[in-house]
Amino acid sequence: MAGVYIHIPFCKQICNYCDFHKSASLKLKDEMIKALMTEIRLRKNYLLDDSIKTIYFGGGTPSLLNHIEITRLLDVIFDSMMVMSDTEITLEANPEDLTIKYLNKLAKTPVNRISIGCQSFFDKDLKLLNRRHNAKQSYDSVIMAKDTGFSNISIDLIYGIPGMTEDNFEINIEKTIELEIRHISAYHLTIEPKTMFFNLLSKGKFKEVTENESYKQYKKLIKLTKENDFIQYEISNFAKTGFYSKHNSNYWNQSKYLGIGPSAHSFNITSRQWNINNNKEYLEKIKNGLIPSIKETLEINTRYNDYVLTSLRTIWGIDLEYIEQNFSEESGKYCENMAQKYISSGLIEKKDKKLVLSEKGKFIADNIISELLFV
Ligand SMILES: C[S@@+](CC[C@H](N)C(=O)[O-])C[C@H]1O[C@@H](n2cnc3c(N)ncnc32)[C@H](O)[C@@H]1O
Ligand code: SF4
Repeated sequence: MAGVYIHIPFCKQICNYCDFHKSASLKLKDEMIKALMTEIRLRKNYLLDDSIKTIYFGGGTPSLLNHIEITRLLDVIFDSMMVMSDTEITLEANPEDLTIKYLNKLAKTPVNRISIGCQSFFDKDLKLLNRRHNAKQSYDSVIMAKDTGFSNISIDLIYGIPGMTEDNFEINIEKTIELEIRHISAYHLTIEPKTMFFNLLSKGKFKEVTENESYKQYKKLIKLTKENDFIQYEISNFAKTGFYSKHNSNYWNQSKYLGIGPSAHSFNITSRQWNINNNKEYLEKIKNGLIPSIKETLEINTRYNDYVLTSLRTIWGIDLEYIEQNFSEESGKYCENMAQKYISSGLIEKKDKKLVLSEKGKFIADNIISELLFV
């Protein structure tokens, strides 16, 4: 089982927190779509023996593509790879783009899942984040997507935004529940280098929320989602039964994937590849029939680290037996030994040969994970 990711590197407006690869100029959009099609054809053998179960348009802002452009890209994938009939096909969308007209056209394409970047249902938060939509659009876009017939909808929320009260975040979750959404990705705001927030922070003009505030909002998120039958199947991802993101679950379960477009990553168990994160250079190389990427053959320790890094964040946790079988018996022992102090303090729960983060452990997952890695 494998997945295809297509990166659409354009946004109409740049959010103050975002370090994903994107350009605010849409000048190269047409050329980029052609290049993406070329790259798919050039790399059609990357997942040769695997059937494609998930396709994901991420960005950037994939909803800047119209239904014809989306269909063209999908047709090239269908023509060049073995795509299953029940493939999950997701499009990340900005609420402002999801008009009734757009959604009606999108419903005629094979896209069967929409991930809407609502972020918050408060104008104050959206303004601070420099989102190009308002709170009403966040809300209405979901209703319109449902009315158009999309039943598999996910929304993105951000918490830990300066000035966001615990009550407001609670309202955000309540609205999500009221909208009968079946999948939520909720991320704590992180301040990434080279973003507007990072610049403001370095100049002392931005104040991050305290750890105490973060923890309160996180606890609220866990409590309300649990009460409403959401399963936290990954630290930032919550879904009703049957609505886990298959694409993201594949990443976390070590499945192969092909990444198309500037900055996209690919993984085939033994190696990973990164495409260049520069639109012009990407276009130039593809024009000459070259794949603009760097390839890394994965050493066994790197594969162990990647496995620990992704699996401990999920509901399935680390399987010590998997480590012993796929890496070495020693690695399994190392992992268990390093985890021991967290097992004793209740931050990790050990069930048979599985290590899973407890609720408290999930809040400091990054610290715990870093200690289980091979340095
Ligand atoms: C790369 S965006 C793509 C979706 C689409 N471009 C949008 O913004 O609506 C994926 C999601 O990651 C989250 N995200 C990106 N950077 C973040 C940051 N620094 N802190 C918290 N969440 C972030 C946002 O919730 C965003 O919707
Ligand atoms: S968060 Fe989404 S819309 Fe905002 S700049 Fe990043 S990719 Fe673009």
